[in-house]
Amino acid sequence: MAASCGRFVPLVLLFFCLSAHAVDHSNFKTCDKSTFCKRQRELKPGQSPYRALLDTLELSNSRLTLQLINNNNKVRLLLELYRLQGNMTRVKINELKPLKPRFEVPDVLITDPLTEPLSVVTQDENGLVLSLGGDEQRLIVSAQPFRLDIVEGRQVLVSLNSRGLLAFEHLRARKDTKSESNLEQDSGQENVEQRADEKDGPIIEEEDKPGMWEEMFKSHSDSKPNGPTSISLDFSLPQVEHLYGIPEHADTLKLKNTDGSDPYRLYNLDVFQYELHNPMALYGSVPVLISHCTERTMGIFWLNAAETWVDISSNTAGKDSSEDAQTDVRWISESGIIDVFIMLGPKPTDVFTQYASLTGTQSFPPLSALAYHQCRWNYNDQEDVKAVDQGFDEHDIPYDFIWLDIEHTDGKRYFTWDSSKFPQPKDMLQGLMDKRRKLVAIVDPHIKVDSGYKIHNEIRSKNFYVKNKDGGDYEGWCWPGNSGYPDFTNPEMRAWWSSMFAYDQYEGSMENQYIWNDMNEPSVFNGPEVTMHKDALHGVWEHRDVHNLYGLYVQKATADGLIQRSGGVERPFVLTRAFFAGSQRYGAVWTGDNAAEWGHLKISIPMCLSLGLVGISFCGADVGGFFKHPSAELLVRWYQAGAYQPFFRAHAHLDTPRREPWLFGPEITALIREAVRQRYALLPNWYQLFYNAHRTGQPVMRPLWVEYPEDVTTFSIEDEYLLGKDLLVHPVTDEGSMGVTAYLPGKGEVWYDVHTFQKHDGSQSLFIPVTMSSIPVFQRGGSIICRKERIRRSSSCMENDPYTLYVALSLQGFADGELYIDDFHTFNFEKEKQFIHRHLSFSANTLSSRNLAPDSHFSTGSWIEKIVIIGGSRPSSVTLRNADGIESAVEFDFDSVTTVLTLRKPGVNAGADWTVLLR
Ligand code: GLC
Repeated sequence: MAASCGRFVPLVLLFFCLSAHAVDHSNFKTCDKSTFCKRQRELKPGQSPYRALLDTLELSNSRLTLQLINNNNKVRLLLELYRLQGNMTRVKINELKPLKPRFEVPDVLITDPLTEPLSVVTQDENGLVLSLGGDEQRLIVSAQPFRLDIVEGRQVLVSLNSRGLLAFEHLRARKDTKSESNLEQDSGQENVEQRADEKDGPIIEEEDKPGMWEEMFKSHSDSKPNGPTSISLDFSLPQVEHLYGIPEHADTLKLKNTDGSDPYRLYNLDVFQYELHNPMALYGSVPVLISHCTERTMGIFWLNAAETWVDISSNTAGKDSSEDAQTDVRWISESGIIDVFIMLGPKPTDVFTQYASLTGTQSFPPLSALAYHQCRWNYNDQEDVKAVDQGFDEHDIPYDFIWLDIEHTDGKRYFTWDSSKFPQPKDMLQGLMDKRRKLVAIVDPHIKVDSGYKIHNEIRSKNFYVKNKDGGDYEGWCWPGNSGYPDFTNPEMRAWWSSMFAYDQYEGSMENQYIWNDMNEPSVFNGPEVTMHKDALHGVWEHRDVHNLYGLYVQKATADGLIQRSGGVERPFVLTRAFFAGSQRYGAVWTGDNAAEWGHLKISIPMCLSLGLVGISFCGADVGGFFKHPSAELLVRWYQAGAYQPFFRAHAHLDTPRREPWLFGPEITALIREAVRQRYALLPNWYQLFYNAHRTGQPVMRPLWVEYPEDVTTFSIEDEYLLGKDLLVHPVTDEGSMGVTAYLPGKGEVWYDVHTFQKHDGSQSLFIPVTMSSIPVFQRGGSIICRKERIRRSSSCMENDPYTLYVALSLQGFADGELYIDDFHTFNFEKEKQFIHRHLSFSANTLSSRNLAPDSHFSTGSWIEKIVIIGGSRPSSVTLRNADGIESAVEFDFDSVTTVLTLRKPGVNAGADWTVLLR
């Protein structure tokens, strides 16, 4: 959210303007102010009151169930255990007989996970041992106190409830409001069903604590009709010192200990002027932790969409080796059930594969979405759009998308245009289309309550709005003023929303218009913590249960709409601010309202790396910073960094001075131009990385430890990263920098500076002097990277351009890489297998291109115009052998200082089989 302080602002917004320097902490809860978090955190490690009732065990091939009883209140829980295919274990805990169903998160898992048989190895009165499939893995269930341990050989991988912090607040009838007869009935029901057995012993009643039945935050009351419903469970990870994930936080890549501070919070919120290095919640939540040590990488996926807090406590291995490292984690959620997936790795790639098998992979964007995006709040009118578009041509800077923020609409009525500023939207879109460029328009999920507005009327008449606790339409304040919030959890509502993107519904829209969903946490300016009241209703469920899912549904419904408007042909592009586990399937995310400060530039790296680790590869930060005005130096450095981050968009607040790339003088324009051109040249590599992410779930932007899991030096690095496995990027993120210290990993490996071809050994830290034009990037020896070096107006203009291959040799003289080509925008690659996927490899002085997908078919006009081989020696001749075995000589140059061999115009089609022989 971003109030414009220069204009009229409603009273509810005034406080944002008055405190315009930093986040207003009083608007957001700390654990102490969130009564369930406080209650749960007061529970200290100790003996768990839970006991497993072994005589209730049932095992049906792949599902094991067992009742747990709380020794104090005698409430029974049902534990379900599953072994999942691909080395995962699922643990579910719910009340055995809840007074009413508790919420289980739908629509996040892509299918019912496939299970594998479980078998009991031994059982006695203390517990049982289960075999988790063929290898050495066992699951030990201890009865009293209840505890689970997953072991492999003699090594404990993870223990659950080993610190006794399982706590499950069962649904209960409200004591104070019960009439006598109700009381009898309730106690009859509850006690008979839940606490039946006399032999369980006397019930120790729990005292009500403040906030269990009603909670106040500032002036907002939460009526809590279901009373306390929170859940918690602890996990211990022996040998682990490093945890990552649980975005979104503006914090370090490696998660910190939360002893003595607040836990990390997951609760999608619109935080005005967020602070860095802070566990506060931000716009999105992915409840996935990744643990890593030299031996093993694992993941914990806590499938719960309610407000969640995560405590982390690591003790580092002492010098005395008997003192082992261990990390303890505790998850606390406000409602729902415990449903947790333990992804057992063992390699980082295995964890990514496991998580992708549960929640799906990154959607494969159209190529243009990977190019450069020009945004600001706002481009004022059609003339402004035209002038900015021309500005890019005049200054010879490529771009693919221009963006329109909320001011383009008729009074913040989304799906409409301001008729005086944008009288002919189709003309504007056609003008862009003629240049093979595109536009994104914002469509937020709050709907102006206005009986003259078609969208509002339809939603109201179809009864699609979220309801308040009393059953009326929920209303809150957002950009348009008083607004309703469509219930995106309702599939019928989503289908209707999707249908609104049809060309005949969304007037003025065309096929080169794409969509941006903002404020979908949802943001409610006058709501508690700037969001929706937790007792608002989505059908039978409270907002409390579904909160973190809302944003995912908004983006899903929008992306589905874009697919449908094209008859299922075109790949959509939708940007979202709020997200949840699985959001990767629907488009891109950005890190919200950052600021034009060096710290914000720096933090964009760990923020996007954290997202990539949990499936969301298509991430970027507002280039230049949203709030405030960047210095020319900061702007240049941000473009240079952004050019090497997945989602590359400049954006700025309404009140900031204009900052199109040419407004800072010719030198700055030239520096920005060069950064953007580097992005365009590397688009083939970005495209191939996204194709790979889409197919396999491997992140595009990776922390170094993902590729060098045994190199402890890499474990905390967050100022540099890898794109795929072959490009190492260390952006300059310090003011006045004269150089960066880059760590190049890999003993026995070499890295080549992509600009100078200078060779450096791996496994060393290196000082790289920089000037204003430097973007330190290194290519791994042993890799082949494809580029297109004829930079044009937009990526679409470059579709059929030729490729240049950069072959960087390992010390052993090998290299390999991939090239992926399709039509760059439709689903035909999936539906019709229309694509080219080549394996490029160099060994024994021979470079060849081999088909990786023999049953695919696609023809490209692109050819190979140049091959640059780095790190070899001068050949006496170079011969090209084409698919028919015909040989021809290839012209070449060799630079003995840089050891760069340049082969000119091999001229083969990029989709063909060919071989180049160096003799
Ligand atoms: C929010 C968005 C920002 C956008 C503004 C106006 O603050 O995060 O990107 O420009 O709203 O729509």
